[in-house]
Amino acid sequence: MLGGADVRDLAGQYGTPVFVTDEEDIRSRAREYLQAFGEADGVFYAAKAFCSRAVLRWVHSEGLGVDVCSGGELEVALSAGVEPAMITLHGNNKLPSELRRAVAAGIGHVVVDSYEEIARLAFFATEASRKVRVLVRVTTGVEAHTHEFMATAHDDQKFGFSLASGAADEAVRRVLAMPSLTFAGLHSHIGSQIFDTAGFEVAARRVIDLAARIHAEHGVFVEELDLGGGFGIAYTPDDDPPDVKSLTASLRSIVAFQASAAGLPMPRLTIEPGRAIVGPSTVTLYEVGTIKDVDGIRTYVSVDGGMSDNIRTALYDAAYTCVLASRSSGAPPMLSRVVGRHCESGDIVVRDCYLPSDLAPGDLLAVAATGAYCRSMASNYNHLTRPGVVAVRDGLATEIVRRETLDDLLRLDVG
Ligand code: LLP
Repeated sequence: MLGGADVRDLAGQYGTPVFVTDEEDIRSRAREYLQAFGEADGVFYAAKAFCSRAVLRWVHSEGLGVDVCSGGELEVALSAGVEPAMITLHGNNKLPSELRRAVAAGIGHVVVDSYEEIARLAFFATEASRKVRVLVRVTTGVEAHTHEFMATAHDDQKFGFSLASGAADEAVRRVLAMPSLTFAGLHSHIGSQIFDTAGFEVAARRVIDLAARIHAEHGVFVEELDLGGGFGIAYTPDDDPPDVKSLTASLRSIVAFQASAAGLPMPRLTIEPGRAIVGPSTVTLYEVGTIKDVDGIRTYVSVDGGMSDNIRTALYDAAYTCVLASRSSGAPPMLSRVVGRHCESGDIVVRDCYLPSDLAPGDLLAVAATGAYCRSMASNYNHLTRPGVVAVRDGLATEIVRRETLDDLLRLDVG
């Protein structure tokens, strides 16, 4: 049962694979973050984790803003009715058309990421006779304890302005020199799926040092400090994510302490959780197809999706858990690897798990915690159609993203 609905009925009605999302779970996590953080500060849901109008409406109605990182995500947020003032635009290479659209829509903040962008944004703001609030993305040099592809604050990468090289100071100078831009503050995102708060502490300390230099050089206070997202969730029973209340309290006290030590007022603190809002809300239901016992090493259980609906196992060596969802079984456990149906041996959904040894084709498997970065990173590899997303609440199911059809694929193939 998920959200009061029987998964066998959901699979029957919507087909498999399908993402099943518990609306109340998302809403309650949004509320938890907002309450822990306080109304004066801000929580912006990072839409890249999963971007659909329904989900953006839910989190926005709970009081969250939305962080978008492309024109596509921006359009979904606007069409979901998210107040433009509560939208933040990110990206290391925002297209001129995206900047122009963001300015015209009157979004709350643009997080600038390069010198070229500062000049372009200032031009579009002047052209539209608007003043745009800007955060400067700072690369703090922090090595976050996470997978290499999810760390974003070490110096040797594409995001932000380096603190160490002085580029961040220069970016602030350039923003302040543009009459059409308002320097609102600083932004730091150290990475994703982080459990240990030490990285946030170091980043906050370094950013406040920069705030002190900015005040000394320009007499300007940093009004806002956005510490990004990255709060880890449990994918398996071995994961022990930090409690939201203690995490946010510790972030706040670090910033308050650092700010007062530097003689600065406490800035408005904002964060951008993505995974922590939607990740745990969703399971993927798959139907079991072929089952192969490989020389007594393990059993390969093939399901009707794979790396096209969950690339995270192949890309980050991510760990997932799964269970037999369509019936109960008292059969002894068998060591299993759940694999997809793509033409790749790396097409693994769950590397190691125990499933009942009487597992049979037609059974349903449920893979947990697939709400973040699974549907949003889905592809049509091997011309598989991407699964739909079904929201459940109080026993009622609603399709919020339709399953793709072969007609959808053929429609794009205009040659
Ligand atoms: N803010 C910024 C500027 C970000 O770049 C990200 C994630 C977030 C917020 C949200 O981070 P979260 O709270 O969801 O960890 N696709 C990967 C992770 C890369 C995320 C990129 N940026 C994954 O599947 O784990």
